[in-house]
Amino acid sequence: MADPGRVLAGKNVLLGVTGGIAAYKTPELVRQLVQLGADVRVVMTVAAREFVAPLALQVVSGHPVLTDLFDRSAGAEVRHIALARSADLAVLAPATANLLGKLAHGIADDPVGTVFLAVTAPTLIAPAMNDAMWAHPAVAESVGRLVSWNYRLVGPEEGFLAEGYAGVGRMSEPETIVAALVEMAEGPTDGIRRSVAGR
Ligand SMILES: Cc1cc2nc3c(=O)[nH]c(=O)nc-3n(C[C@H](O)[C@H](O)[C@H](O)COP(=O)(O)O)c2cc1C
Repeated sequence: MADPGRVLAGKNVLLGVTGGIAAYKTPELVRQLVQLGADVRVVMTVAAREFVAPLALQVVSGHPVLTDLFDRSAGAEVRHIALARSADLAVLAPATANLLGKLAHGIADDPVGTVFLAVTAPTLIAPAMNDAMWAHPAVAESVGRLVSWNYRLVGPEEGFLAEGYAGVGRMSEPETIVAALVEMAEGPTDGIRRSVAGR
């Protein structure tokens, strides 16, 4: 594998955090990315705030966290679009069933869905959910659509779930997500597909 520090140093990495229990691992993910020289910006959903404090992510990333699209203190800048445009790489971790469905259908009614719809950079998705949710055809179809548009996937993995039994649905560990990001950064630079309506 390429030297992760060389690959990620100076890269603007956008992290979207959604409301799965695995969100508690995201400060560690951010810490590892920052240690490798990445400049990490974080956006999170309302549900994600139940599992990890925005302040923790603000402190480890060294930047304010976007939690409210309609924050009036943001001044004249359209912050969510500026965030999306600044990303060299993006990662959605953990990605809930809800957010996967929204992204696959162009629904932008929360900070993460809105920002990620505007992201054109290479984007990695780390799903995390209950095994029955992961096996649902609606989730499988959403993931299939996203992959066909060039989103990359890491996990989910088989292991002990928060529900107290083993199954497929665990988010990959932070170091595995970092390795997948490095691989994505080293690969083709084409980002998320764009098309003109009707074509
Ligand atoms: C304790 C708890 C754990 C949850 N874990 C997950 C999860 O791992 N994956 C998931 O898709 N949803 C999970 N949910 C459900 C989501 O939080 C819920 O669908 C929420 O609406 C997702 O919102 P978001 O996608 O905007 O973050 C969990 C809910 C609770 C109460």
